[in-house]
Formats: sequence, C-alpha cells, structure tokens
Amino acid sequence: MARRLPSQPPNLPGFSYVRVLGSGGFADVFLYEQNMPRRQVAVKVMLAEVVTSQVKQMFQAEANLMAQLSTHPSILTVYQASVSADGRPYLVMELCSAAIGQRYRSDPLPVPEVLSIGIRIASAVETAHRAGVLHRDIKPSNILTTAYGHPVLSDFGIAATLSEADVTEAIGLSIPWSAPEVVLDETSGTIASEVWSLGATVYSLLAGRSPFEVPGKENTSAELIQRITKGRPLPIGRPDVPPRLEQVLLRALSRRPSQRQRSALELIRELQAVEAELGLPQTPIEVAMDDWALATADDPEDRTRIRGVTVVDPSAARRRRRRSPAAAAAATHAPTRTIVRESAGSAGLPAQTGPPARASRALVGALIACAVLVVVLAVTAGVVLVRAGSAGDIPTVRDLSGRLSGTTIVFTWSDPGLQTDDTYQVTVDDQPPSSQHASEFRVDARPGETVCVTVTVNRDGRAGSPSGQKCVQRTGP
Ligand SMILES: Nc1ncnc2c1ncn2[C@@H]1O[C@H](COP(=O)(O)OP(=O)(O)O)[C@@H](O)[C@H]1O
Ligand SMILES: [Mg+2]
Repeated sequence: MARRLPSQPPNLPGFSYVRVLGSGGFADVFLYEQNMPRRQVAVKVMLAEVVTSQVKQMFQAEANLMAQLSTHPSILTVYQASVSADGRPYLVMELCSAAIGQRYRSDPLPVPEVLSIGIRIASAVETAHRAGVLHRDIKPSNILTTAYGHPVLSDFGIAATLSEADVTEAIGLSIPWSAPEVVLDETSGTIASEVWSLGATVYSLLAGRSPFEVPGKENTSAELIQRITKGRPLPIGRPDVPPRLEQVLLRALSRRPSQRQRSALELIRELQAVEAELGLPQTPIEVAMDDWALATADDPEDRTRIRGVTVVDPSAARRRRRRSPAAAAAATHAPTRTIVRESAGSAGLPAQTGPPARASRALVGALIACAVLVVVLAVTAGVVLVRAGSAGDIPTVRDLSGRLSGTTIVFTWSDPGLQTDDTYQVTVDDQPPSSQHASEFRVDARPGETVCVTVTVNRDGRAGSPSGQKCVQRTGP
C-alpha cells in the first residue's frame, strides 16, 4: 500500500467518478461508474510523475496484450485503455475485491484455498509465459477476487512496461516477492524468477507474511534484500501446512534459479500432488492455446480447423514477445488459420483444446482488443521507431523461401547467427507473430489461398529488421 494521498481522479468521458479503491507504487485505482453499458468498473490511472512519453507509448502498446491475456479465467479482465485529458494513461478493468491482498496478514487462508489459488494463478502465469510475456510483479496484492469468487491475477505487462522504461528506481520494486537475481539486478525477469515470486506469494498467503520478513525484527528494504540474497526463509510455522507443501515452496524459493521448478507448470503439478496427498479435489490446470484463442467471430468454420497447439519454447519465453499493435489489430479481423508449427524444445508441455465456452470468451477478448487498439494505433509509429532504432546488432533472415507440400506451405530459412536466447518471430500475413527456435514454419492453406510470411529475429525483447515477405499460393485442389 502506498503511503501517500491519492492523485486527482481524472475526468473520463462516459464514466462518473465514485471513490478511491487503492493506491500502488505508480498508479491509483478508482471506482467509476461506466454510463453505457451501466456498470461499476475499476480504473487504474498512472501517476503523472511516472508518465514520460516513452512510458505512455509502451503502456498503450501493452494494452492489447493484456486485453488478450485477460480472456484467461484467472487473469483480470481489462475492458479498455486510453489516456486521460490530463495526459495520464489509464486502464478500465473488472471491479474486484482486493480482500486477499489486504487481509492475508491478519487472516491467513486455509491450506486448500491457498493450493487452489496457487494453481489457478500459476496457470495464468504459465499461459503468459507461453505467449512470451513475463508478469514481473507477482505478489498477494495483485491477486484479486471476482464477483464470482474466482482469484485473478492483475497488472499484466504494466510492471514490465515500466521496468523497460527504466523507471523502476522511481517506483520501487515489490522487494519481498522479488527473486534474489532480480533484487541484485542481474536480470529484470525470467521464468525462474517468476517461479520464485509464485512460491513467495503462496508462502505469504499461508504464513501471513512474506518469506523473508522476520516478525518482531526490522524489515526494511535493505534487510529484506540481504536476507533474500543470503538467507533461507523461516519455516511457515503452521501445523496444518503439510511438509510436502513446505518443500515445494522451499524449492520454488531456491536461491539458485536452476534448483527451482523449471516452469510455472511444474510448480502447478507439485501443488496438485499436495492436493492429492491431502485428499482434496484437484484444481484443474487452465492453460490457453494460441490458435483458437485468436479465432474471430466471422469465420466459425476456421475455428473447427484448429489441430495443433502452439507452444512457446520455454527459453524463448524468457524474452518478452513484442507484438506490433498494427498486426494485432489486423489479427482481430483476419481469418484464423491452422498453423502446424515445429515446436522445437516444447516437449513435455501438454496439448489441450479449449472448451467452447472459453472460445466465446476469447471472441469477446478479441473484440475488446480491437477496441483498445483503436487507441493504441495512434502511437504505433512511435513505438516501432523506438525499437527499430536500437536493432542494428540483431541478425536478419535473408533467404526466406517457401514451397507447397500437399496442402501445407513450408517456409524455411537458414540461421543468420542466432544466439542461445534469440528467437525467430514468425508473422503470417498480419496475424500476431509467434516465437520459435526452428528455422522451418508450416501453415495449412485452403485451395487457392496465398500465405505470406515474414521472419524477424528477437533478441532481449528487441526485434531486428524483418526478412523480406515471402508469399506462396496453394495451387491445385
Ligand atoms: N480491479 C480492481 N478492483 C478493485 N480494487 C482494485 C483493482 N485493482 C487494484 N485494486 C486496489 O487498488 C490497490 C492499488 O493497486 P495497484 O496500483 O495495482 O498497486 P498494488 O498492486 O501494488 O497494491 C490494490 O492494492 C487494490 O486494493
Ligand atoms: Mg496491482
């Protein structure tokens, strides 16, 4: 909780201000009533102090990503994003209860509830990682509860936006839930550091304090950093927490990233094993699939064509995926096609198909993304320029070729000199790009259809220059 007075709530056309909901490090959250459709919404408004033109552009470019991720049942729904008349970016979100984050210190939660919350929130994080997105601010106060009692993770992308814009010094990190390598500034975030934060968050809900906070002692930022980087967490100290659960959390909180669970999914499996040991019903894993989640309303037939699950190579997910807002806007209108992708390095991740109810949520999400993007498009040119300006050292794919193999178009290229953590971003027509390591990409095509592909190398979240576009037509029946 921020110890400061809330800022002035902005005048937002179509919304009436009601009251303050809370304040964070870089934003205030206000309750507004939306006039049409009439409903109560939470509006998060960035503080004027942290708003630079770069932050503003990046905040808006992230809005489409958040809107898309928010179709996940455990990710807070974002309705809209824009900039207020006084120049502060804001997000209009589903109104939730913040009780978990506010009360866990005085009322630690029952073990079964914490397991269920942990699995659901880790599913949200796993889904984001598969989309190449890091949350970077997983902590109890970012777990909200919907009107229907479901825990949801909030603040996707915002922390990342700010950390890339180098304003974290000004806003401060959420130190108690930040991994040792993050507080030491060795990395701004990886899958491993998010596993640590998930572990620290679950630990906090059980213990009523963060893992390196010592009751009755000084818990200043400096003390916490010292303990996080050098010490071990205290035992949780609750007789109803089974030793196995404590071990799972200690593993997630390992100082060395390589000793932690390798992914949020692995952490989920271990939490599910604790549920089984306690004879509790198993909380399901909910991990989204790219292809159907991007389906559009005007082409129902295409949605039934989905066969494969696009899974991002976990190492690729260490780099945030950068989508061109223009491409994303187009994607909400473009027909979805089946992408049969070589998923190098994705072994072990389960293939799932989404139930129809969630497909319809995805459609709503796509429409919201579209609305958000009307705003985002205005700054697209600026964002592209910022990124292109620093891409000189990133290799470019120069020999992209394509051929027809039956009904599939196969695009191939040679390695222009990728480093271990680099990925290829493959853009099919104007759909959102997907990440991969393999230098081959397959697309199912309809008779007579022409498919155009562009490949760009992504390094440290920055995109290099795109290859020339290669278009291949499916001839024959
Ligand atoms: N969608 C929401 N619905 C209701 N309250 C919210 C919502 N989002 C945030 N809040 C409240 O506003 C507070 C400030 O949020 P935020 O700026 O994200 O900071 P932090 O997550 O660090 O607490 C939260 O602690 C929470 O109490
Ligand atoms: Mg928050």
